Amino acid sequence: MVFTLKKQIMENNRDGFSGKFGVIAAAAGSAIGLGNIWRFPYILGENGGAAFLLVYLLFIFVMGVPVMLSEFVIGRKAQSNIIGAFKKTAPGKPWYIIGIMGIGAAFMILSFYSVVAGWTLEYAFLALKNNFAGKDIVEIKTIYDNLTAGSWNSVIIMILFLAITALIVSFGIQKGIERYSKILMPMLFIIIVLLCIRSITLAGASDGLNFLFKPDFGKLTTNAILQALGQAFFSLSLGMGVMATYGSYIKKSESLGKTAISVSLTDTCIAVLAGVAIFPAVFAFGIEQGEGPGLVFVTLPAIFNQMFGGYFFAVSFFILLIIAALTSAISLLEVVVAYFSEELKLNRIAATWIATGATIMPAIICAKYGAVFNFFDKTSSNVLLPLGGLLIVIFAGWFMGLNKVRKELEADGRPARYFKVFIFIIRFLAPIAIALVFLNSLGLMNAGNF
Ligand code: PFF
Repeated sequence: MVFTLKKQIMENNRDGFSGKFGVIAAAAGSAIGLGNIWRFPYILGENGGAAFLLVYLLFIFVMGVPVMLSEFVIGRKAQSNIIGAFKKTAPGKPWYIIGIMGIGAAFMILSFYSVVAGWTLEYAFLALKNNFAGKDIVEIKTIYDNLTAGSWNSVIIMILFLAITALIVSFGIQKGIERYSKILMPMLFIIIVLLCIRSITLAGASDGLNFLFKPDFGKLTTNAILQALGQAFFSLSLGMGVMATYGSYIKKSESLGKTAISVSLTDTCIAVLAGVAIFPAVFAFGIEQGEGPGLVFVTLPAIFNQMFGGYFFAVSFFILLIIAALTSAISLLEVVVAYFSEELKLNRIAATWIATGATIMPAIICAKYGAVFNFFDKTSSNVLLPLGGLLIVIFAGWFMGLNKVRKELEADGRPARYFKVFIFIIRFLAPIAIALVFLNSLGLMNAGNF
């Protein structure tokens, strides 16, 4: 007992997660969010379906998992926030710029993410008032269009969402994050499975399943590949220090490899299920697959309308989706707060409210102007996160020292049998692949296709 306590003080006197489920639940809480249920289906719909899905899965497992592992290693080794981590591990070197980029990306993502979370909040209210009942697709679409066409309503609920996020973050890691993720995500999972069952039993559903699972590689454009890469990073919360920050809270006795795999598998499972819930319905109701950010907000109420117990499931679903969005937004804010409080020596509560205050203005602009929203959405996912990921794997693979990396991976006392493959990926495969996707898409950006 005394020994454990001493060890704990020696290795980490920062706030930490209690036990295995706490870590996985919190990291999965960051990963699972609007990215899986709102962004994944809309990006997949815009990029042709099954072929996109295959490339996405490839990116998740060949690049996402190793990048996540690299972040965990960097964070847990340094026991620090994302900028401090690089300053500690590579003193006097400019690697901390990765951290600065990460903080910038966190602000950018939080700005548009809060807007979508606000829409979800509004949808929960509408579902509670039974406002979707009996409405056809055109009427449901009008509700979405009115809400998102720069209305002040969407600004107010976005601010409400941000305030809730800030309140939770100011409570601190253990109480704030862990408590909320553990019980609620399995409930969300169950409702998504029920949605899938309803969706695939609709008349005309098979076209949606074909769209999702029968690849047509002719549809796989360079742009689609870039979007798949960006979506993989976005969905797993990679490339900006969230996972490094969480890694710094993981106890030495936990296996980083297993954590990375469990988080990635759970996240991917939810995204694919969201696709199975959405696309059969999209085809059955004659909705445009390339509808864009409104895709799920138009499709879901229509499915609930056709479902036994639709009222109950709609209300529960939107509330759980808000909670999924909250645990992700918390992680975004946490990156900034960990930095403000540790490096700038602010107290946690001040750090939280300053960071939240700084997000409000860009978030209002995102809520009011669709073009800014799109720019933030696409630039953060397709440029900043993969660029951050590229630098992170180069840092872990080439500059941290292989012995240190191995020691951190094996700190739980078990051998990391995957070590050679992991190093090959982070040294060669991932950097080259990310660079190639970038180079390819540079032409696209010029052509205004981005
Ligand atoms: N992964 C989250 C989602 O899928 O909703 C969004 C996100 C959180 C992206 C944290 C990036 C991040 F650092």
